[in-house]
Amino acid sequence: MDWQAQLEAYIAPRKRLVDDALETYLAENPPRPRTLPEAMRYAVLGGGKRFRPILCIAAAEALGVPATQVLPTACALELIHAFSLVHDDLPAMDNDHLRRNQPTVWVKYSEAMAILAGDALFAKAFELLAEQARLSPPERVAQVLHLIAVASGTEGMCGGQVEDILCEGQAIGEAELRFIHSHKTGALIRASVLAGALLAGADSAQQDALDAYSRALGLAFQIIDDVLDETASTEQLGKTAGADRARRKATYPALFGIETARQHAEQAKQDALNALRPFDERADPLRWLALYTVARGS
Ligand code: IPE
Ligand code: IPE
Ligand code: MG
Ligand code: MG
Ligand code: MG
Repeated sequence: MDWQAQLEAYIAPRKRLVDDALETYLAENPPRPRTLPEAMRYAVLGGGKRFRPILCIAAAEALGVPATQVLPTACALELIHAFSLVHDDLPAMDNDHLRRNQPTVWVKYSEAMAILAGDALFAKAFELLAEQARLSPPERVAQVLHLIAVASGTEGMCGGQVEDILCEGQAIGEAELRFIHSHKTGALIRASVLAGALLAGADSAQQDALDAYSRALGLAFQIIDDVLDETASTEQLGKTAGADRARRKATYPALFGIETARQHAEQAKQDALNALRPFDERADPLRWLALYTVARGS
């Protein structure tokens, strides 16, 4: 079997596990509040690769801990991701109308509901992170809670989103662009890998190796997201193609051109693979996920 087939076989049952758990976590539908639970379900359950939960699971499994042991945290990461997308699409941010081949949450339900659904998804994520304490030692859960909170806030995703918005239409250099990518996207990808590793009891050498892996992977992931925005169709993307250029976003293709952007992603992939050298074949899914991340862009 080639790595693509192995990765597919790896992902399918784990994605099902995650999707079923997300469905359960978002199942409540009380008479009040109206609309909000439905908008949250719409934001989360209508598709998506589940890349961050799979990374969390793959990191835990690389250290011998099964998926079911990290499931609340894996799902929390997807809720934070979904929240970030709901807000990212708002008119005040990227002003996007299409996401996962559906109208964006604000288009479907209103801007007020999109803001509140994002807020509520973020809160729900911390509810799930607290639930992780039923499965893992409290000191590991506290470490993960801290890691994910930092990755989401000023020093992570929100910080990157701010620079992304402020740099629209600006001439910026590679260092600034790296800051944007490593924060708006890289931070949560790093936290996904490290959360799985910490819950699995990673020692400090393993944490350092997975830190290097996940930083490189996060950079590759956003570079390829930028490349696809220019090279793929709206149908393939499930979001409006060419949106970055239209908004004069700071992207790798804008700064370097498509081919050099792809080379940067390729280099980041090599860095990610090199970082995994100390690990045995249980880390193969993490290796395939790095290959997949960059293969998607060509
Ligand atoms: C899109 O993320 C936004 C970025 C951070 C690049 P994904 O490409 O993981 O989106 P879904 O979850 O699969 O829809
Ligand atoms: C999104 O980056 C990053 C976050 C949502 C935090 P993009 O704005 O490039 O993501 P897409 O292309 O809209 O999915
Ligand atoms: Mg954006
Ligand atoms: Mg966007
Ligand atoms: Mg994008």
